[in-house]
Amino acid sequence: MSTLKGKQILVGISGGIAAYKIPSFIRELRREGAEVRCVLTHAAKTFVSPLTLATLSGQPAQMDFVNEAVGSIEWNNHVAHAEWADAIVVAPATSNSIAKICHGLCDNLLTAVLLSAKCPIFWAPAMDLDMFIHPANQKNLSILTSWGHHVWPSPSGELASGLTGPGRMAEPVWMLQALKMGLSDNAWEGKTLLMTSGPTVEAIDPVRFISNGSSGRMGTAIALAAANRGARVELVSGPAAVMPPLHPGIHVHAVLSAEDMLVKCNQLQAGADVVVCAAAVSDYRPAKLANEKMPKVSSLRVDMLANPDILQHMGTVRKDKHPHQIVVGFALETHDAEAKAKAKRLRKQADLMVLNHAGISGEGMHAKSNRITLLDDHGQHPRPQESKADAAEAILDWVENHWT
Ligand code: C5P
Repeated sequence: MSTLKGKQILVGISGGIAAYKIPSFIRELRREGAEVRCVLTHAAKTFVSPLTLATLSGQPAQMDFVNEAVGSIEWNNHVAHAEWADAIVVAPATSNSIAKICHGLCDNLLTAVLLSAKCPIFWAPAMDLDMFIHPANQKNLSILTSWGHHVWPSPSGELASGLTGPGRMAEPVWMLQALKMGLSDNAWEGKTLLMTSGPTVEAIDPVRFISNGSSGRMGTAIALAAANRGARVELVSGPAAVMPPLHPGIHVHAVLSAEDMLVKCNQLQAGADVVVCAAAVSDYRPAKLANEKMPKVSSLRVDMLANPDILQHMGTVRKDKHPHQIVVGFALETHDAEAKAKAKRLRKQADLMVLNHAGISGEGMHAKSNRITLLDDHGQHPRPQESKADAAEAILDWVENHWT
């Protein structure tokens, strides 16, 4: 699983300007169902307010070894914080905090927590260009890596000093995905997932086209979940409104028409362990593409040709050439859905058909949630209404239980 639901994440914040982005990271973590606790250095509170962190995390933001209230003084046990955490993310990680840990210094609560921790630790170094590339810092980062800590890249770009170069903190959405990937059991490591997503567009003339409704949300959820389980994802996508964020495991191949999508899938199928066809492929394309914009008329007749069925093609080629490949398709039906999806699974030679229950408010094509039934050789397995992310995890669990 690559979910953060119920995970206890301690966010350690040291004193860098990139701390201003941490509130949105905390919101992303909470949205995923994680419990969040913040420990910050005194330098960090210049850049982000402890009240903001406490409000967004739902827990007091911690800074000191003792908490003083009127008439009492209480030890803020750093070991207890370290034991509470399933993972620690240090973001932004300054050169100073990194160096302290590398040399066993613990003169503040955050460094004491870090030296007591036995859970995975993720570092998002953020500092100015010359500090970042300084041999002392580079040596310290390599020490962290040698201990098995996860050191995230610090992308190049504009820095607070006005210089341009490496040293920026990774973006919160990226950190969220990298954290999920780092905490997953990596069951898909070494596996390649080829998938289609989004709509296809079929040109009528240089400015007009026909297409299908598809947000790309379900495909994005599957691509992200698989990449976070360690897969290499080849995502062949039409122009979708929703695309995954930049992710080290996801390789996007942008296409327009069904024919382009098929060409790209044909190139990639041999290297795939799993093929998931989640695209809403246009069933037809105009028989002729007009070279110039057609004049507006009161009624227009466009001859159409049937498009290739990519899933069916993948299923047939798999049967002949790649018997261990697992092929998954989707079905969206409005009536007699189970029977139609069952027939479709057999016709398209898919191992698994995922039936989307259409027409229920809040579920399906453009919605964020979904209600699916999994159809396989053993019958039908209906699932409750759930987020598309949870539906994606269920589909990947099914695949994991069926590969050889
Ligand atoms: O036949 P229907 O469009 O209902 O089938 C849906 C499934 O087939 C989806 O998995 C979709 O991605 C795939 N499909 C395809 N190529 C087509 C039409 C559908 O891959 N031309």
